[in-house]
Amino acid sequence: MHEIHAQRLTSRRIAPIRPVPDILEDASAGLLQAPRSLPPKYFYDDRGSRLFDAICETPEYYPTRTEEGLLARHAGDIIALAKPRHIVEFGSGTARKTRQLFDACQRRQSTSYWPFDVCESMLLESGQQLVEDYDWLTVNALVGDYLGGLLHLPRLDGRCLYLFLGGTIGNFTETQAGEFLRDVRAVMKPEDFLLLGADRVKEADVLHAAYNDDAGITAEFNLNLLRVLNRELDAGFRLDGFRHEALFNPAAAQIEMYLVSNCGQSVRLGALDRTLELAQGERILTEISRKFTAPGLEAMLRRAGFDVCRHFEPGNGYFSLLLARPQ
Ligand code: AVJ
Repeated sequence: MHEIHAQRLTSRRIAPIRPVPDILEDASAGLLQAPRSLPPKYFYDDRGSRLFDAICETPEYYPTRTEEGLLARHAGDIIALAKPRHIVEFGSGTARKTRQLFDACQRRQSTSYWPFDVCESMLLESGQQLVEDYDWLTVNALVGDYLGGLLHLPRLDGRCLYLFLGGTIGNFTETQAGEFLRDVRAVMKPEDFLLLGADRVKEADVLHAAYNDDAGITAEFNLNLLRVLNRELDAGFRLDGFRHEALFNPAAAQIEMYLVSNCGQSVRLGALDRTLELAQGERILTEISRKFTAPGLEAMLRRAGFDVCRHFEPGNGYFSLLLARPQ
């Protein structure tokens, strides 16, 4: 049983073309001088990936549910248009929403799924579950950081559907987002498609609640970054020395998530052989989550070399799913 599945589940590491800074470089560039910040990809260790999953289940965090609803409604259309032989997903996580697309695939046309994520344990666990649930599916897990460029992705014969779901494009600055979309465009063949999910600008209280859930799971997720730093940097962050803060910055149309120092403190960063001095109330920016307008999303895709074929949204306009192809 196990061996049969193993043949349809592989895993390989994808090296970036542009050098991606490691956690030592990111921490020394991001923590040692103000404004202090860290890239959000370090949230997703084993525990962080699971906490993110739990966030998606909270009543306040509407994006996952909204996107899954859109996928459920439009998967048939999307698959009929794209007719993919391969489905490549950036930041796949548990790939729960992607099942809506697999459900719409014809089982007699064998399809391969290429989930690309920084969290290998999550890739293998969800990949195993997928090959058990879909006996026509091959899963080739790709481990790595997709911001470093995609030229080392395997060359795939046959039509590809690239997925970038969940609104993760919002974690990138405008420059990074443009660069990433152009990287994707550069590996695409003329007949391939991209399906992009992105969160929309809306009432500040709805956004605020989504990043400040009552059960405190988002706070746990944010504070988990300190555990990652303690482990990876041999650092001495005290988890009770910091609190979670997330607020909507309307001028920048983005959620900003911070770890706020509860007191004046010195934190040893062993691996950097440095000490971080923090004042009471001093903040470390741990994530931006940009929110878009419908025309803004279409313009961003066009600037990166895409034509928008379909733009799906729910009645309340809370989230967008865009199906695009190379111009
Ligand atoms: C996975 C990047 C889409 O920005 O909403 C959720 C991450 N952070 N709650 C988002 C997140 C806090 C999430 N993305």
